[in-house]
Amino acid sequence: MSGGAATPAAQANAALIRSRAELSPRIGLVLGSGLGSFIDAIGDAVTIPYDAFDGFPAPSVSGHAGSLVIGHIEGAPIAVMAGRAHYYEHGRADVMRPALETLHALGVGDLIVTNAAGGLRDDNPPGSVMLITDHINLGVHNPLIGEASDARFVGMTQAYDAALREAALTAADSEGIALHQGVYMWFSGPSFETPAEIRAARVLGADAVGMSTVPEVVLARFLDLRVLAFSVITNYAAGMTGAELSHQETKDVAPRGGEKLMRLLTRMLAAWPERK
Ligand code: HPA
Repeated sequence: MSGGAATPAAQANAALIRSRAELSPRIGLVLGSGLGSFIDAIGDAVTIPYDAFDGFPAPSVSGHAGSLVIGHIEGAPIAVMAGRAHYYEHGRADVMRPALETLHALGVGDLIVTNAAGGLRDDNPPGSVMLITDHINLGVHNPLIGEASDARFVGMTQAYDAALREAALTAADSEGIALHQGVYMWFSGPSFETPAEIRAARVLGADAVGMSTVPEVVLARFLDLRVLAFSVITNYAAGMTGAELSHQETKDVAPRGGEKLMRLLTRMLAAWPERK
């Protein structure tokens, strides 16, 4: 069972997109902090600001643009969310739901989610890219709280699609990019984690920590989208070096890993594994 029929808002938003862009993107991409330069690679780009849509997030975080860009990369039609909203902005885990429902109503079947994250492993340094294999959400927040249908009981055993992950590893190999794999743990933010929280996260099995992605992945699985997700590691997690963490560092370092991720995704988009 999946999330069901498109809402009127999602249908209206999708109709607006269709009236401006003569494309039917099957792939959606959510850009994380500092990864906004991805949109420069989009051909025939049509840009629609979020405030043109019903229910789209108004990002309040620097490094997040706040527009939907529809166009091509390597011939593949794609819908790119340049900017996301986070739980910590308004205290709502379902803040991305209308946007993801809109992509779904538009015909998007695969969602690529990217984020900037703190790395917990010495061999996954700032500037590297991690393919997310699974996640940990130990908070009490879930974007489907309040959903009434039985579709709310979403299976998360195979949340991160195996075929897309395989294709990502192959593309990384072809591009000569060291693609680490690991588990992403969601913290609400906006304060960074404490060193003790990072020690706890490590014991629990986390390889990277961040403030986004997990609610979007739950919503995407609710909508039966295939999910592929990456973390661009922008810093060693709290307490691993003596340094204090900052959002400025996130924005400064993200483009380093972002360049690798862009090459990897471009390679993947040239031969995207269609859904069976
Ligand atoms: N923690 C949480 N979110 C982040 C981090 C971090 O260390 N780096 C970038 N986003």
